[in-house]
Amino acid sequence: MCGIVGYAGARPALGIVLDGLRRLEYRGYDSAGVAVVHDGELLTEKKAGKLANLEKALSERSTVEPGSDLDGGAGIALGTTAIGHTRWATHGGPTDRNAHPHRAHDGRVAVIHNGIIENFAKLRAELERQGVEFVSDTDTECAAHLLAGELARLRAAGEPDGPHLLAAAMRQVCQRLEGAFTLLAVDAGIPGAVVGARRNSPLVVGRGVGENYLASDVSAFIEHTRDAVELGQDQVVLITADDIEITDFAGRPASGKDFHIGWDASAAEKGGYDYFMLKEIAEQPQAVADTLLGRLTESGEIALDEVRLTDQDLRDVDKIFIVACGTAYHSGMVAKYAIEHWTRIPCEVELASEFRYRDPVLDRSTLVVAISQSGETMDTLMALRHAKEQKARVLAICNTNGATIPRESDAVLYTHGGPEIAVASTKAFLTQLVACYLIGLHLAQVRGIKYADEVAAVVAQLQEMPEKLRRLLAGIEPVRELARELRNAPQVLFIGRHVGFPVALEGALKLKELAYMHAEGFAAGELKHGPIALIDQGTPVVCIVPSPAGRGVLHDKIVSNIQEIRARGARTIVIAEEGDRTVVPYADHLIPVPRTPTLLAPLVTTVPLQVLACEIAAARGHDVDQPRNLAKSVTVE
Ligand code: M6R
Repeated sequence: MCGIVGYAGARPALGIVLDGLRRLEYRGYDSAGVAVVHDGELLTEKKAGKLANLEKALSERSTVEPGSDLDGGAGIALGTTAIGHTRWATHGGPTDRNAHPHRAHDGRVAVIHNGIIENFAKLRAELERQGVEFVSDTDTECAAHLLAGELARLRAAGEPDGPHLLAAAMRQVCQRLEGAFTLLAVDAGIPGAVVGARRNSPLVVGRGVGENYLASDVSAFIEHTRDAVELGQDQVVLITADDIEITDFAGRPASGKDFHIGWDASAAEKGGYDYFMLKEIAEQPQAVADTLLGRLTESGEIALDEVRLTDQDLRDVDKIFIVACGTAYHSGMVAKYAIEHWTRIPCEVELASEFRYRDPVLDRSTLVVAISQSGETMDTLMALRHAKEQKARVLAICNTNGATIPRESDAVLYTHGGPEIAVASTKAFLTQLVACYLIGLHLAQVRGIKYADEVAAVVAQLQEMPEKLRRLLAGIEPVRELARELRNAPQVLFIGRHVGFPVALEGALKLKELAYMHAEGFAAGELKHGPIALIDQGTPVVCIVPSPAGRGVLHDKIVSNIQEIRARGARTIVIAEEGDRTVVPYADHLIPVPRTPTLLAPLVTTVPLQVLACEIAAARGHDVDQPRNLAKSVTVE
């Protein structure tokens, strides 16, 4: 959701900012814009639609001489201070007018914003009473006018002009805003400086040599620097070519946390694949291996990444809630089976967006596990904060180093999956599953329910997964062919039992978000209580079958369910363990997956469903990596 980039340095900033925006495209957006400070002028350009529209507008103006009617003419390509934005519309439609940056009434200040300013109506009314004319429908424009007003007031009060004035004015503005925001701003009269502010919305600093960056996430500047600074909440940051200064909203000096980014720009490129999603599906064996790397210590214990909890805290846990959204919620559903089985602690899985509104019973002995790839999902963050207010302990599973969710948690297990660019989660899901298994084992061990050798045996099974995944992916072509056959199906249903149920939900989610098709996942046993009425002659139904070697009753029950739907005309697509002959008579299409213990089976059964959705979407001509209406990181509630 909304991508933000800022640059202060010695090089022409426009290209750097546009490249950064391109790397943030995956977050999802519907308009884009830039503001450049050059020669005492503020030059802006913004367009609805994809970045290409903005680039076209910029290239048209680059043929115009400076001094012409067009603001700034070619000068926009020369300035060395700039901000850029990709907008995911909240207040006001995705139009040129509502695109960011927003200029203040003085024409000298430009602001970009991610988040929602909740008191914007009140602020707007106040500014309008003062005679300010608004030109957009956005909440952001308030911040631009307020900032210009503060700068004017400070200048009139005789405050020295320069970068510090910009930071001081931003602090004043932040104190008036309610809601969640990341703001970046420049002033035509203060060349060489970009000011940023954050509250409950992502912003990270890139530390360069003779240049510095601000961005929603590190991928925006990864090709220039891998040294970054994590900001805290309610901080204002001022960057110039040579300096980074951080304060809180009251102006007290504050510090960020330096970190080095462990991957390089090539990790965020397509690397020869048609889509990021295909690349990320292919990366899953390595991502799973990386999540597992170094997890078993020499003394046979499971190692998390950051632990601010004692073993006694974990022994005191008498109830677990897992909170997450979308795909991460499905990984939590799988985790419930493993955690309850291994630890015997009651475990509930909740949609993060619902959690705090139903007043859950939480106390010191409750462990809340927050799962989030981005670590910035607002619904999950708010659920986490609610849990902390009720004194519960919070453990985060996250893929993004230093994001807000892990930072506010008592313990963290990073998934080490590398950047996930496609909006549809793939490797995030598999690595979240691995992380959940590890946490279940850790809890069981700390509480004395599992011995080191039992834990090591499960870890050894997990360590076999990368190879199994490689084998599965090597034989995935028939799934692609099947996808092309299914491209015009009016609906696709998915059924599973036990851990196969969340896999069915995940398969349906992938198809909905990518192919825009009606798709539903069901617990196979529930079909007869209603959904079986959806089955018509030829309705494709994907059936996730557990291993016959595991819980026999589970396997037999789903085979019966397959027979029931087949008798009603369903076209059955059966995902079953290699060598499971019992399903052959009932499968119109059989997709074999490597033999895997029941609890770990989602690591393999999900993969064909990812490929199926990706290929159907591509065959229907959709943008696989950036499906309509969706954002990668959902930073509003
Ligand atoms: O970053 P998060 O894991 O918190 O994101 C949660 C969901 O928005 C996300 O999993 C979403 O459902 C996926 N893009 C679906 O593929």
